[in-house]
Amino acid sequence: MSKFIAKPATSLSGNLKIPGDKSISHRSIMLGSLASGVTKVKGFLEGEDALSTLKAFQAMGVKIEREGDNVTIHGVGINGLKKPLKALDLGNSGTSIRLMSGILAAQDFDCELHGDESLSKRPMGRVINPLTKMGAVIESNDNGKPPLRIKGSQKLKGIKYDLPVASAQVKSCVLLAGLYADGETCVTEPAPTRDHTERMLKGLGYDVRVNENQMCLTGGGELTATEIQVPSDISSSAFFMVAAAIAPQADVTLTGVNVNPTRTGVINILQLMGANLTLSNEREIGGELLADIRIQSSELKGIKIPEQLVPLAIDEFPAVFIAASCAQGETTLTGAKELRVKESDRIQVMADGLNILGIENEVLEDGIKIQGGVFQNPAQMIESHHDHRISMSFAIASLRCDYPIEINGVDNVMTSFPNFVALANSAGMNITEI
Ligand code: S3P
Repeated sequence: MSKFIAKPATSLSGNLKIPGDKSISHRSIMLGSLASGVTKVKGFLEGEDALSTLKAFQAMGVKIEREGDNVTIHGVGINGLKKPLKALDLGNSGTSIRLMSGILAAQDFDCELHGDESLSKRPMGRVINPLTKMGAVIESNDNGKPPLRIKGSQKLKGIKYDLPVASAQVKSCVLLAGLYADGETCVTEPAPTRDHTERMLKGLGYDVRVNENQMCLTGGGELTATEIQVPSDISSSAFFMVAAAIAPQADVTLTGVNVNPTRTGVINILQLMGANLTLSNEREIGGELLADIRIQSSELKGIKIPEQLVPLAIDEFPAVFIAASCAQGETTLTGAKELRVKESDRIQVMADGLNILGIENEVLEDGIKIQGGVFQNPAQMIESHHDHRISMSFAIASLRCDYPIEINGVDNVMTSFPNFVALANSAGMNITEI
């Protein structure tokens, strides 16, 4: 098990290129595999999660070649997947298991999906329920946890499904199953969630009808191969946005970041906190919006985070909590119960780490209150609970801590941001991985 030693640093600068978006990388493999023709992907995230999806589709007979972040997918068509020889191991990746359940529920073969210790604790009832309504047959462990055993050769029918939680993974799972279902499948979401599936389906020529908070498609169509340019991941970028905002001296530009409006909650939150953050060079590439983001040192103030921003920043809260720790006054987050079922319980695990750094906080059932302060000499090592975003969040706290911060169990940074340490150090941080 590796750990980070993040030594004090005070300045951060440079033009940084953050790796490709994880959500879009997963979807490029899934939809490229199901398309007819050859899909070329540029800027693919070479992280373990996206590679789990890639390997799973290879195991189902799809020829996929990768040279660095360039990936070529020889699509097998919507009905061309083959039964894998053994159970598919999806590692740490919730997106892989939830989205692929939708696709695999409709195949003419049985298969089993499983993952690591963290994935084995994550709730799958949220996808099993709607898929069962569509006619799928899926067995899970007690309490709806992986492994999932999906029975093949079931005829699916379209459903109208109201999402009980604002979840892009569940929405995508149901829509992907809908590609194979008889008739129309519609999903209604209680709040906007990332819409990369809808955008990419359209990019591959599938008719997806979006009307306010409802997305519908009709089964039986085909996908046509295309070229996909994966923009930089705003979730990975968030560590550098917060790092630059809290650093005593900072001027950082992140180039070509995905600013899809269903993902930009972190920008809104940091701006509400007073961050010196500006967007420029906004452009659209392959149906996704990109911008360059410049962040300079900022005097942050505590805020009450508007609840409607929560699903739009759902992966960025560990980093936002570090910003809140460095802000003047109190920051309150509510309406974020979903954080408890991510790669770790991100409310409790962040609170435990903040306690070690001497930051006053109060854990709420669905959020946290954080009192801005000064990081103290950490008396013990911080545990990441194998959660990549916890590891990176506490690493950037070193820009405001006079003592080294040690974070244990950082291996999972590889799932989403393999060059995090190199990039952070090139910009002025001082992180060692041992
Ligand atoms: C994702 C959706 C989100 C997010 C996850 C990626 C996706 O999960 O937390 O990292 O790619 O669809 P939920 O749908 O569970 O909110």
